[in-house]
Amino acid sequence: MTARPPGVVLAGLDIGGSAIKAGLADIDDGLLLGGLHSVPTPQPATPDAVIAACADLAKTLDADGPVGVGMPSVIQRGIVRTAANIDPAWIGCEGARRMSEALARPVVLLNDADAAGLAEMRWGAGRNTSGVVIMLTFGTGIGTALFNDGVLLPNTELGHLTLRGMDAEHWASARVRTAEKLDFAHWVERVNDYLAEMHRLFWPDVFILGGAVSARFAEFGPLLRSAAELRPAHFAGQAGVLGAALAASGHGMARRS
Ligand code: BGC
Repeated sequence: MTARPPGVVLAGLDIGGSAIKAGLADIDDGLLLGGLHSVPTPQPATPDAVIAACADLAKTLDADGPVGVGMPSVIQRGIVRTAANIDPAWIGCEGARRMSEALARPVVLLNDADAAGLAEMRWGAGRNTSGVVIMLTFGTGIGTALFNDGVLLPNTELGHLTLRGMDAEHWASARVRTAEKLDFAHWVERVNDYLAEMHRLFWPDVFILGGAVSARFAEFGPLLRSAAELRPAHFAGQAGVLGAALAASGHGMARRS
């Protein structure tokens, strides 16, 4: 058997409410090389503290070139516009520029769910899927990434739709399931309400369900109901890191995003 020549390897980071994860991705085939490294997200999760933690993590990864960083924020042209589950001091921060100075490398900064969606569309559950696909990540919040014929509309913040008079993510995220000690049957009732509302508004062909909880899809998947096709994410908790690395390669990023 001839060995495949090594592909392009880039680093990806995923800033979450409780942990920052990092890894190296082979961009040709979406393989995570050497597993995930992670550190707890500094509290409070201010720009200074988080950027310093990202710089330390990036040093542990043996790759040159640009770094992709996903975070739970709307990002426009490298500027952070919102801050959910991280310190509000991020709002207005020139995140890409500051991160790039700290890491001494070019940085592509993007929304974490957009990153996860890019990975799933390129190598995972959304591969070769045309039409409208919505990637959902269930974690501390609910992240969304909307694709039409494989093209991303960045920064959709549909975890903040109103459901039962509150932000949907305060009703149906994976964090809420743990905090309220909901079993899968009760949590999935809430997720089904959310899927119904999303379907009523966007009529997707496919929902991809991701976030670390999707590793347990076999347990709760049979309880899910939607008029759209439901697919478990292929990468579960790794999609954000893989997709951030993919974005660093320029894939999926509009020039103005
Ligand atoms: C944020 C989104 C993020 C999602 C998942 C939401 O609270 O507003 O930007 O994608 O959480 O982390």
